[in-house]
Amino acid sequence: MSDHLTIVDHPLVQHKLTLMRDKDTPTAVFRQLLREISTLLAYEVTRALPMTTRTIETPLTDMEAPVLAGRKLALVSILRAGNGLLDGMLDLIPSARVGFVGLYRDEETLTPVQYYCKLPRDLENRLVIAVDPMLATGNSSVAAVDLIKDAGATNIRFLCLLAAPEGVARMKEAHPDVPIVTAAVDEKLNELGYIVPGLGDAGDRMFGTK
Ligand code: URA
Repeated sequence: MSDHLTIVDHPLVQHKLTLMRDKDTPTAVFRQLLREISTLLAYEVTRALPMTTRTIETPLTDMEAPVLAGRKLALVSILRAGNGLLDGMLDLIPSARVGFVGLYRDEETLTPVQYYCKLPRDLENRLVIAVDPMLATGNSSVAAVDLIKDAGATNIRFLCLLAAPEGVARMKEAHPDVPIVTAAVDEKLNELGYIVPGLGDAGDRMFGTK
């Protein structure tokens, strides 16, 4: 745990993550667990949002009551698996703006290539939370955050479900100003770039495409 990395060790998060890791957990249950866990992660990643106050009237009296300050925050899903984190986050932050970044890996150069990018306006005035369940090599996460910064954002956090030490190190090197929030940092990447022990291919497991 550091300023750059927060591991959400809440018992509900850890219990749900274990159920998601189990290879026998069916698609519908996996998807429901991801929705639930992403709400809990959203709670943690928004913990330090700036606050102000507003005068309201309760049935008994006036009061200066706390409310969120500043522009609506933006969630940016890194396609396609990032979409699995969106629904649960939007349950908690329904007025968030939402953007999408699509990247594929060029098999010759092994570098991420952008095929889609649609981001909310005024990113420079918003907290932007980039979401992708799996921080593996970090290549696509670094490229996605590059795009978000190019669009003007200066206050960015990265939210994932599982991270590999290699991905955390790569993000820290490329974007030391972007804190990472995750439910766990696993042991390693295997030779195919999968997180071990991990949970397999997050996109395939949530969309039932394998
Ligand atoms: N992406 C996944 O979906 N799973 C991994 O283990 C690594 C990257």
